[in-house]
Amino acid sequence: MATLKTSVLEIDFENPFILSSAPPTAKIESIDKAFTLGWGGAVLKTITPDNLEMIEASQRYATWKSGGRVCGFENIELLSHLTNKQWLDGIKYLKQKHPTKVQIASIMAPVVKEEWQNLVKTFNDSEADAFELNFSCPHGMPEKGIGMAIGTNAEISSMITGWVKEVAEKPVFVKLSPNVTDIAYIAKAVEAAGADGIAAINTVQSLMGVDLDTFEPLPKVNGKSTFGGYSGMSVKPIGLRCVAQIRQKSDLPILGMGGVSGWRDAAEYMSVGADVVQVCTEVMINGYAVIGGMKQGLLDYLEHKGFNSPADIKNKAIPNLSSHEKLNKSTQVYPHIDDVLCVRCGKCVTICDESEHSALSLVDGRIQVNRDACVGCSLCSHVCPKAAITMK
Ligand SMILES: Cc1cc2nc3c(=O)[nH]c(=O)nc-3n(C[C@H](O)[C@H](O)[C@H](O)COP(=O)(O)O)c2cc1C
Repeated sequence: MATLKTSVLEIDFENPFILSSAPPTAKIESIDKAFTLGWGGAVLKTITPDNLEMIEASQRYATWKSGGRVCGFENIELLSHLTNKQWLDGIKYLKQKHPTKVQIASIMAPVVKEEWQNLVKTFNDSEADAFELNFSCPHGMPEKGIGMAIGTNAEISSMITGWVKEVAEKPVFVKLSPNVTDIAYIAKAVEAAGADGIAAINTVQSLMGVDLDTFEPLPKVNGKSTFGGYSGMSVKPIGLRCVAQIRQKSDLPILGMGGVSGWRDAAEYMSVGADVVQVCTEVMINGYAVIGGMKQGLLDYLEHKGFNSPADIKNKAIPNLSSHEKLNKSTQVYPHIDDVLCVRCGKCVTICDESEHSALSLVDGRIQVNRDACVGCSLCSHVCPKAAITMK
């Protein structure tokens, strides 16, 4: 029998699905509900020194939808509005009620040693299992030198990690930004400064769109906007790439996230190095109850593959990631058309013709492949509206 149990730095997770630091972890009552519904843990909405001024904008979200489904989500939300005392009481209450659930205190402070260390000391005395340093919010609040302003600078990131490690009495994860040229470089810098683990990714800096009647960028805040953080299923390829790049350079535990909306995403993250995954946008769109399908799906997959636990998937795909130069180019695949599924719309023929190769034609009501012209790029299989083309 497979199990979903796993452990990271001697912290036991009853399952590898935890809520990331965001609105679903902003209220004690909500986290209580999430734990009851089966989440393995929660990273608390980022806690700051009580005197840090934060005024939220309205509205703070914009979405990119396809077929009614939210594919991409942009937010310009800031950090937690609970006081440190409210969090301390809340963490204690949650630990008493849900002793097996993991709680990670996400923290952020101005770049002042005393401020970071005071915050850490305050939560050293809590029942939180670990710290997560938020070096990565793209809009909260780089203009004050915090958030992504820290995580895009290796020197400042390692300096703060060092300050935190001097006083932290719990494991320290550093949450990194994808908005850098080389995320693994920043990961190595904080590792050298003593980080016990990495969390990645925070949101991708974005601009969701522009109202073409008024030329107001989205989301509109009294006619103006700002660059926000992009999340949800559309950022998964970026998150996966970042986690894989970190894993290629570092053995530290990784809390992986970015677009996890089902068990498959979680398994993919684990295969490129994540120990557990965090989820935010999927829950903001569909509610905490999505945990049921995530857990069952992953458990079924582990059993189907003969794995014992999530740890068995970890890093499995890493040996298969290489540079383009090292890819074996001695084989070529060709499109195979399923004549039952194909509706002879001719889209594949047009696209192949207009995107370089002109290898497909519609002859006597059937798609023909000219193997001399086909390079096996696979574009036809991706644009076919009936999924009638497979590459073999
Ligand atoms: C509305 C919103 C608020 C967020 N607030 C925080 C935060 O306070 N601290 C933090 O570290 N990350 C914050 N995040 C980032 C998420 O924790 C997560 O890293 C990101 O959304 C990617 O995961 P997802 O695609 O599952 O949403 C926030 C994300 C959203 C959408």
